[in-house]
Amino acid sequence: MEERTWPVLVGLVCRLAVLSPDDAPAWLAGEDAEIVRWFEFPRPSRAEDVQKAITAWRQNWLTDGPMRQWGIWHEGHLAGGIEVQDRGDRRANLSYVVFSGHRRRGLAVDAIRLATTWALAHLPIDAVVAVIDVENVASLAAVERSGFALEGLAERWEYDETGPSRRYVFPPS
Ligand SMILES: CC(C)(COP(=O)(O)OP(=O)(O)OC[C@H]1O[C@@H](n2cnc3c(N)ncnc32)[C@H](O)[C@@H]1OP(=O)(O)O)[C@@H](O)C(=O)NCCC(=O)NCCS
Repeated sequence: MEERTWPVLVGLVCRLAVLSPDDAPAWLAGEDAEIVRWFEFPRPSRAEDVQKAITAWRQNWLTDGPMRQWGIWHEGHLAGGIEVQDRGDRRANLSYVVFSGHRRRGLAVDAIRLATTWALAHLPIDAVVAVIDVENVASLAAVERSGFALEGLAERWEYDETGPSRRYVFPPS
């Protein structure tokens, strides 16, 4: 997909737009211990990790790859990121972060709604799933508030972290 056609999604409190290499310092500044904890990063990210991630995200847009990622923007500031990844089983996996200074303002719920609606309309899928650690209270609340339904405990292949995790689905069946 040519860069000029990459979608910008406008919500109630945030805007989703694909990140550019210039956004790497803001992303790096936004990462905190909560993000490192729930994604089980072996160490806090370095500049080169973020540059590499942004390059990969942009490449997926360019080549119509399985992963579609946006930055979450709030009042002109980079406030986090969200991605949907086609799992190849007619479902896409949803993943998101909101940076610490921007939490508890409804950004995750707004971004989840935007990315989920886009994915259901544009990817070869029937549902979006979110696989969340049973102890990640904030993330569980965000998907529940977004209208996702609990399907049950996720299977081990569905996540990389140590878990155990729950699988939520949208639309609810
Ligand atoms: C999970 C996360 C994205 C939530 O982002 P957010 O923008 O603060 O979420 P929202 O403001 O949209 O809140 C959504 C709901 O969750 C609730 N919530 C958010 N953080 C919470 C917390 N720490 N404890 C309890 N409830 C919480 C809110 O109250 C809200 O519910 P309500 O509207 O009924 O009040 C954010 O905390 C984060 O980035 N955490 C670290 C990374 C992570 O865990 N990502 C998800 C991996 S699966």
